[in-house]
Amino acid sequence: MSFSDVIVRRDFPALRERSEGTVPVYLDSACMSLVPQAVLGAMEEYYRDFPGCAGRSLHRFAEEVSHRYERSRELCSEFLSLGDPRGIVFLRNATEALNLVGQGLPWKRGDRVLISDQEHNSNLVLWQRLAAERGIRIDVLALPESGFDLEQLRGQLHRSTRLVSLFHTSNLDGRSLPIREIAEVVHDHGAQLLVDGCQAAPHLPVDLRELRVDYYAVSAHKMMGPTGVGFLAAPFEQLSGLRPLLTGGETVEWSTLTQHALRPPPHRFEAGLQNYAGVLGTGAAIEYLGRIGRDQITAHDRALNARVSRGLADQPRVHVLGPSAPADRPSVYAFALDGVDPADAALFLDAGHHVMVRSGRHCVHSWYEARGLEGNVRASFYAYNTEADADALVNGVTELLERVPESAPKTTARRTMAAPARARPKRKR
Ligand code: ALA
Repeated sequence: MSFSDVIVRRDFPALRERSEGTVPVYLDSACMSLVPQAVLGAMEEYYRDFPGCAGRSLHRFAEEVSHRYERSRELCSEFLSLGDPRGIVFLRNATEALNLVGQGLPWKRGDRVLISDQEHNSNLVLWQRLAAERGIRIDVLALPESGFDLEQLRGQLHRSTRLVSLFHTSNLDGRSLPIREIAEVVHDHGAQLLVDGCQAAPHLPVDLRELRVDYYAVSAHKMMGPTGVGFLAAPFEQLSGLRPLLTGGETVEWSTLTQHALRPPPHRFEAGLQNYAGVLGTGAAIEYLGRIGRDQITAHDRALNARVSRGLADQPRVHVLGPSAPADRPSVYAFALDGVDPADAALFLDAGHHVMVRSGRHCVHSWYEARGLEGNVRASFYAYNTEADADALVNGVTELLERVPESAPKTTARRTMAAPARARPKRKR
């Protein structure tokens, strides 16, 4: 079966032709992916057919949702080749998963965490808070322009480094880090490895037993699932060492007015009524992705990225971020345009070409601040994108550059372009 036999654009209601005759060109999946009908159906089915709460009541609705909730846990475990569903904790998103690890580890004053200089705010602000409140120290690994230097990593591990926390694939430029090799260095040192897998798990086959990471964080909304669901994946024994972020219903075996006993992981971390519809939708997304195959998705992303890279290669005013080869940044084409503000470019592409991209600092403000950069434009690809989408981006950017001379002051540039219907954002995002 070929790729186009299994991935069908009409499975994605958001991609339908709109009443005014336009078809959305959605190139912002690194922020939020689209959901197929199968996911919408799974969520609706829950509310329509068995809207009970899992793990509590004994009636048929409750039994059905309990069964399906645990089946989704198995699917998440299989999705990451974890080999043990007890190592999957359902949470609101990867940010919450990173927080569960960061806030749940038994830090001592002076313990150190090592992160890279290209981490999303979700893998940065948390450590800054722990530094202020619990006296940990943050070390920062400056990533080279491309590739990864394992010796540099070794050189930055201190005796008191307890945790290394890195992205797997960068939301900023699409590069991936050699997690298996990194895990070996980190473990040889006696530290643990936490990985933000948000941008990797939706696009690459991920085998956690092979990668040997200690904690891996994922958000469903970047892998064709709903918003408000994410999960932490970790070997079961590893989870036992974490203090829950929240306590409450379903987290305890028993309680008296003065005491309680926590349940074993993963239930001790899932306090209160859960997002059952969302978790069932996540299971449906994993089944859908399984029918496509993530190795196929990587190849597809790569082909689209190569097409855009070729299409804009002769434009001297286009500067691509990250590795030069599209194969090394398959899901992301991030670029700056000489003489054009990134927000204006995004508004122009949307208004004039129905092309949706993200602009700004992509929640990695620290990286831009350190370089004195304002931000850039980011197009990101996924399985439902087509060559026509890639060409629409190339045509939109080419037209924009023709219409806005490099030397034009930014205010003139804004007037020259198709008047955006909306104001530019005030906050840098
Ligand atoms: N992490 C998301 C992005 O890069 C929000 O767009």
